[in-house]
Amino acid sequence: MSVLFSPYALGPLTLRNRIVIAPMCQYSAENGNAGDWHMIHLGQLALSGAGLLVIEATAVEDIGRISLGDLGLYSDDNEAALGRVLAAIRRHSRMPVAIQLGHAGRKASSHAPWDGGQCLAPAEGAWQTVAPSALSHAPGEPPPLALDAAGLARVKAAFVRAAQRADALGLDAIELHAAHGYLLHQFLSPLANQRDDAYGGALENRMRFPLEVFDAIRAAVPARMPVGVRISATDWVDGGWDVAQSIAFGQALAQRGCSFIHVSSGGVSPLQKIPLGPGYQVPLAEQIKRGVGLPTVAVGLVTEPAQAEAIVKAGEADLVAIARAILFEPHWPWRAAAELGAQVEAPPQYWRSQPRELKALFGDARIGQR
Ligand SMILES: Cc1cc2nc3c(=O)[nH]c(=O)nc-3n(C[C@H](O)[C@H](O)[C@H](O)COP(=O)(O)O)c2cc1C
Repeated sequence: MSVLFSPYALGPLTLRNRIVIAPMCQYSAENGNAGDWHMIHLGQLALSGAGLLVIEATAVEDIGRISLGDLGLYSDDNEAALGRVLAAIRRHSRMPVAIQLGHAGRKASSHAPWDGGQCLAPAEGAWQTVAPSALSHAPGEPPPLALDAAGLARVKAAFVRAAQRADALGLDAIELHAAHGYLLHQFLSPLANQRDDAYGGALENRMRFPLEVFDAIRAAVPARMPVGVRISATDWVDGGWDVAQSIAFGQALAQRGCSFIHVSSGGVSPLQKIPLGPGYQVPLAEQIKRGVGLPTVAVGLVTEPAQAEAIVKAGEADLVAIARAILFEPHWPWRAAAELGAQVEAPPQYWRSQPRELKALFGDARIGQR
């Protein structure tokens, strides 16, 4: 029996299997609005048979967008545009859909990666970024404005409003983006946070704003909606954020009713040295899972079904997220189910694709198919 293809409960939300589609920015929105690309991209992924689809990092205010093409959930138009995409997905897929809510902080106001990813110039529509401290991400980049009390309150309220919009859209879960060097990670990491007030200095102070944002979101959405957090478990820089601090943060989140922790790494400093390799972040996930005890998602160069199966079977993580491999092979979970002798849900329009020798691949999954 495959563990990867066994169900998993995230609180009241039961996933059909342990495969999560990791959030992936598409830089293809207009004024934060999802459009045809999102319909095609998310629609395709919603037919993949994964247990959960996490929509890309979605900005809670316009200046929190990484690029002008980022998805947003800060306006009525944004909500309506995403609503259209979700309605189409729901007509053709039963896959639960989560959304990653984030704010880019000092990493905002940039070009899309395929245009080089550098900071926008004023003539290109650059805007003043915000952060815990007025420290640029990289030398030569325009410095952010350090958030004052009013700024902190505004950002927190923006997270809450976006979470309420996510709930109104019927999304199934929220993932708070506290990884990859974006605003909430900037508060956690001593490399980006050099405040001398209650939000900087000691670990307890650096965790304060991310925890306040978590509490405010948790209080604003119904209990049936899981709220989890994606973290960078280490900055991969000496003197930066690390696994011990991540465990302390995870424990504080667990006490506050966090539903899951999604373990990534890096992104806060150009000085990072990441030891890339197959499953390179899995040992981080395992340490966080052991130290915190929350449902844990592992991610990062998990590309093979047997590899994903081994991770959940060994209890290194409860769920495995896949990003690039599922863009390359949008039916990756079908292949995984085939290789692991399991079953996967597929749309009836595609049932005739079931290989003759894999008679049961879409077997029971047909039952209950809308
Ligand atoms: C095109 C692309 C966009 C991404 N956008 C996001 C994002 O919006 N939020 C996030 O937390 N990580 C993002 N990531 C990181 C992935 O979620 C994932 O953690 C990373 O790619 C490692 O997993 P993989 O080896 O399976 O690709 C992105 C990655 C890719 C390739």
